[in-house]
Amino acid sequence: MAMATPQGTPYLVGPVPFEDVGGGGGEDHIVAVPPPEDEYADIVSAMPSTTMIGFPLLRYQGSWLLKTWVTGVLSVQRRFAPRPDDVLLASLPKCGTTWLKSLAFSTMARAAYPPSAADHPLLRLNPHQCVPFLDDLFSSGEATKAVEALPSPRLMNTHMHHSLLPPSVTAGKCKIVYVCRDPKDGLVSMWYFAKSIMPAGSTYTFSDMFEHACHGETPNGPIWDNILSYWRASRAHPDKVLFLRYEEMLLDPGHAVTNLARFLGVPFTAAEEAEGTSADIVELCSFKAMKVLPANNTGTFTMLGFPHRSLFRKGVAGDWVDHMTPEMARRFDGIVHEKLRGSGLTFAAP
Ligand code: A3P
Repeated sequence: MAMATPQGTPYLVGPVPFEDVGGGGGEDHIVAVPPPEDEYADIVSAMPSTTMIGFPLLRYQGSWLLKTWVTGVLSVQRRFAPRPDDVLLASLPKCGTTWLKSLAFSTMARAAYPPSAADHPLLRLNPHQCVPFLDDLFSSGEATKAVEALPSPRLMNTHMHHSLLPPSVTAGKCKIVYVCRDPKDGLVSMWYFAKSIMPAGSTYTFSDMFEHACHGETPNGPIWDNILSYWRASRAHPDKVLFLRYEEMLLDPGHAVTNLARFLGVPFTAAEEAEGTSADIVELCSFKAMKVLPANNTGTFTMLGFPHRSLFRKGVAGDWVDHMTPEMARRFDGIVHEKLRGSGLTFAAP
């Protein structure tokens, strides 16, 4: 959004689409710069490792990280300089990140980009091109600078556990919005996502992935630790950490957007309510509307090489019933239930 200083010089007010100001190449631009692997080589080589769906995972500070994001996470911990008005979206992969990005972007940027406008950035850009992903970007010095150059307030996202975030973030003023999803549906979503980039002839099965997940070995897993870290933070600091549930958002997206706007300090005014602004945001970001946009159903991200369309599969709750046996579901629910015991957070009863 372009504003003018008292001297008349135009300046930008965030959030603005990262693609538009981050160097012009979006995610393609990000991987063009070699990651600062040398700096972290000793730390990275000492990390325990495993492989899941053909992806190397490294164990770092209690979390399994995709190897490709490890240097970024280390860089975020050392270099990320939060601003008091930053907003950080957090989630496990495949649990509603894309939707949360679009909702938060369109809510925060609605003055500059009315959600019903024909030229809204989300009509031409994938939500990931609007909201930068720190864990990947910070593995590149050039992309780090692009994030640093974003106008305030910045809107960014991470998959890191809350406990991995630098103290400057967790003790600072910036707000965090976490979206949580039934882990069984998250796993099914990850399976389809992985299949979209699996080498032809791979013999890796859903059962193999399920076993890894039961042992906590998924990207940014263990799943329960990632969820719990934000759940506890939201209980301790409800003014700083908002904990959303994907299933509740599906049931009442209007309430989710109103809640989000209030938490972010930009509640809808009476005039906006009368104009239906929150309903316009819900519509703009709806699965049905987003799935058919060229920015979301064509093209491929350079990061991990996955097609944009793989981010918009079904967008429903409970798809696990068609992919897990009752025994698998009982086992996984049981593990999660045990891990969450005493936290006040529950999913399906085992
Ligand atoms: P499914 O694979 O179960 O359909 P992430 O963005 O974290 O990768 O999560 C992807 C999941 O969110 C996918 O779930 C995808 O379909 C769903 N999703 C993407 N956009 C959505 C939207 N606008 N509304 C609801 N769900 C959405």
